Amino acid sequence: MEPLSENKIIMVIHGPNLNMLGKREPEVYGKATLDDINTALKETGNHLGVCVETFQSNHEGAIVDKIQEIMNSHHGLIINPGAYTHTSVAIRDALLLLSFPVVEVHLSNIYKRETFRHHSMIAGVATGQISGLGGDGYILALEYLARQCRAVVHN
Ligand code: DQA
Repeated sequence: MEPLSENKIIMVIHGPNLNMLGKREPEVYGKATLDDINTALKETGNHLGVCVETFQSNHEGAIVDKIQEIMNSHHGLIINPGAYTHTSVAIRDALLLLSFPVVEVHLSNIYKRETFRHHSMIAGVATGQISGLGGDGYILALEYLARQCRAVVHN
C-alpha cells in the first residue's frame, strides 16, 4: 500500500501478564508469544504505511504514564489492559486525555468467561472493542486505525 505522506504512529499497549503469552493458559490465550504478536503488528504496520510502537507493563501507573506520554505525538492506540480492564478507573481516566481513536482488544471473548470479566471499565471511553478473535483482533484493530489515519490525511 502507498505510504502515508505524513508519519502516523500507532501505539500498542499490553497490560499485565501479557508478557507471559505462549506460556499462560494457552487454551484460553493461544500459543503465540507477545513477540510473535508485536512482530506481526509491525509487519502489518509497514504494509499499511503506519509506524507501530509497542509497550508492555505489569504496572497500572506505568500504563497511565505511557498514555499521557503519547497524547500529543501519536495517532491511534490499541490497548489490551489485561486484568486492569475490569478494575482501572485510572487507565479509563487517562484514555479520556486522548483525541485520537482507541481500540480495546482482548484475545479471549471476555463475555463468554467469568462474570467479573464481563464488565470493562475501558469500553465506555474506547472507540470500539474487539474481543475473542485471538491475535487477529490486534491486526484488525490496526487495519481500522490505519484506515482512520488515511481518512484524516485525505480530508
Ligand atoms: C484479557 C482478558 C482479561 O480478562 C484478562 O485478565 C487478561 C487478558 C484478554 O486478552 O483476553 O489478562 O484482556
